[in-house]
Amino acid sequence: MVHEMPRSKKGILIAIEGIDGSGKTTQSKLLFKALKERGYNVVLSHEPTEGRFGREIREKLRRNHIAPEKAYELFVMDRKEHIENKIKPALDNGAIVIIDRYFISTIAYQGAAGVSISKILEDHKQFAPIPDLVIILDIPVEEADKRLSNKSKDLFENNMNYLRKVREIYLNMKNFLNTNIIIINALRPVEEIHKEILNHVLKIIRNN
Ligand code: TMP
Repeated sequence: MVHEMPRSKKGILIAIEGIDGSGKTTQSKLLFKALKERGYNVVLSHEPTEGRFGREIREKLRRNHIAPEKAYELFVMDRKEHIENKIKPALDNGAIVIIDRYFISTIAYQGAAGVSISKILEDHKQFAPIPDLVIILDIPVEEADKRLSNKSKDLFENNMNYLRKVREIYLNMKNFLNTNIIIINALRPVEEIHKEILNHVLKIIRNN
């Protein structure tokens, strides 16, 4: 007798990315709310997480106290826990998962700090589901600096040249990742950006 295997429900993974100050968190929340209002099962999360490794990274970044390889190691450990405990279960449950930063940030930030991008890609292939859609909010570094000038800045945010390299890698992300990548001019009004993001996401949902 042939048993039919239970069909595993598969959700949709969306990563919101960009340099510090590009408006990721605002846009992630707006997208979450808009999808919830439309009745979708949706989960919002972010990296670094509030878990032990995520807290350690934030603490070290605040104190400017971390070598690129060590930072890489911590981001990966944080992400492994995040995927295992939250992202995979939500995707298996058929949810739309929005993450405010994901391994795309590692490619851009740790890549810009000198960690090999091929290594980052090879390592993540082993454990990290590729997003169905990557939204990159793009602003010039000078604008990011202005926007962040009243907030406390960490190691990355203090270094304009470094952030320029990070932005450059974001803008070339299509060379590294084979998925839907949308680069959005994030200098426009919040509501306009939100509508554009929502349209892209609804298209992905319809085609899924
Ligand atoms: P946040 O300000 O979005 O919470 O992120 C904290 C900092 O960590 C931010 O400057 C970007 C950086 N970061 C990396 O360098 N690599 C990563 O993989 C992630 C997720 C964040």
